[in-house]
Amino acid sequence: MADEKGFTLWFTGLSGAGKTTISKLVGEELRTRGSKLEILDGDVIRENLSKGLGFSKEDRDTNIRRIAFVADLLSRNGVPVITAAISPYREIRDESRELMGERFIEVFVKASVEACAERDVKGLYKKAFAGEIKEFTGVSDPYEEPLNAEITLDTENESPEESAGKLIALLEERQLISAAQPA
Ligand code: ADX
Repeated sequence: MADEKGFTLWFTGLSGAGKTTISKLVGEELRTRGSKLEILDGDVIRENLSKGLGFSKEDRDTNIRRIAFVADLLSRNGVPVITAAISPYREIRDESRELMGERFIEVFVKASVEACAERDVKGLYKKAFAGEIKEFTGVSDPYEEPLNAEITLDTENESPEESAGKLIALLEERQLISAAQPA
């Protein structure tokens, strides 16, 4: 579509907060509506573009800058993007915002450390609390909550489907995607 508008939904939140799950749901809905979408997921990016990087502040910043670089390339060419990395540092998120300007939409995928540890889908919190993983975000490493996210998804109190629905509504409101065709 020639008139397709690029944007980046920049997810930020703890490991296990729901970033990947919600990004997939939004992706399915956009594709159903005939829109393009690229998902840049932290876990996937760390297997290729950021392979070899660890979790020091320096490495995380490098990881996030790479993700922002790719998100900018895509979104400025009309391709909608979701980035789904913890991106724990406010300063680097703000740098990404500056890079993409109005195309950047910060999405706080909010769940407490306790809730994420309770879910512990990957079993990493257990290890982090046992001291087996160092520098684990929210346990032994910082997470700086957004101060001015465009939208907050409270995943302790809403289902992934509800969260995805809120994002779709926001995109419609901003006329970044067209409304669903009536069935
Ligand atoms: S970020 O901080 O650089 O944005 P990113 O989202 O790419 O992080 O990767 C986070 C994922 O790496 C987590 O979901 C988890 O599966 C894994 N991981 C492994 N070690 C750590 C750690 N020390 N802190 C956070 N996540 C970790």
